[in-house]
Amino acid sequence: MRLAVNIDHIATLRNARNEFEPDPVAAALLAEKSGAAGIVCHLREDRRHIKDNDLQRLRQAVSTKLDLEMAMTPEMQHIALQTKPELITLVPEKREELTTEGGFNITVHYNTLVEFLKPFKGSGIESSIFIEPDKKAIDLAEKAGADLIELHTGSYALKTSNEERVVELQRIREAATYAKNLGLKVVAGHGLNYLNIKPFTEIAEIEEVSIGHAIIARAVLIGLEEAIRELLRIIQ
Ligand code: PXP
Repeated sequence: MRLAVNIDHIATLRNARNEFEPDPVAAALLAEKSGAAGIVCHLREDRRHIKDNDLQRLRQAVSTKLDLEMAMTPEMQHIALQTKPELITLVPEKREELTTEGGFNITVHYNTLVEFLKPFKGSGIESSIFIEPDKKAIDLAEKAGADLIELHTGSYALKTSNEERVVELQRIREAATYAKNLGLKVVAGHGLNYLNIKPFTEIAEIEEVSIGHAIIARAVLIGLEEAIRELLRIIQ
C-alpha cells in the first residue's frame, strides 16, 4: 500500500506568522525522502493554508506525484490545467468547515462534473473524486469519466465502538471491490491515523492512503525534542 502525504498543515503553521517557516515545499521533499509515494495539497478557495505560490513551487519540486485537491470551480479547473499536477481530487468545499466534511455529492453535481472533467481527458492529469463508499456514487464517478475514486474514511475514523468500525470497514471493503471491478483505481483517506490504519492494509483493492493531520501532528511531537536540543547546542 502506498502513502500520499497531505502537507496542508505545514502551510497552516507557516501562515500563523505570515512568514516563511515551515515551508510546505521543504516538508514535501522530506516526505518524499521518507518514502511517500505522493504529495497532496488542497488549494482552497479562501487560500487558508496552501497559497497559489506554494502550489507552483510544489509543482516544480515534487518528483513523485502531486495530487491537487480542489473544489469543482472554473477557477480551480483553470489553475489545475495550467499547473499540471499528476492528479486532481475533487472535494466538496464549504467556507466555514475546518476540514473536508463528507464526500462529493456526485448525484447532485453529475452533469457539471461530466463537463468539468472533459478538458482533463488527454491532458496527462488523472482525476479522482472523493466520495462516500456507496455503489451509486461509484457508478456515477465511473460514468463521468474519473480515473480514480478516493473513498471517504471519515465516518470509519469517527466510530467509537469496535462493532461500528467493523460495519463501516465492511462498507469500505465492498465499495473498493466494486470500484476496482468497474476499472477504477481506488485510494482512501480522511481521519486515518497510526491506530486505525492497519485494517486498510488488508484491503488489496485500496492502492494508496492519503493522510495529513495524523502525520503532521505526530511529527511535531517526535521532532520537538531534537528541535529543542538543537537550539540548546547553539546557546550553551
Ligand atoms: N483526503 C481528502 C480528500 C481530504 O480532504 C483530506 C483532508 O484534507 C485528507 C484525505 C487527509 O485527511 P487527514 O488530514 O484527516 O489525514
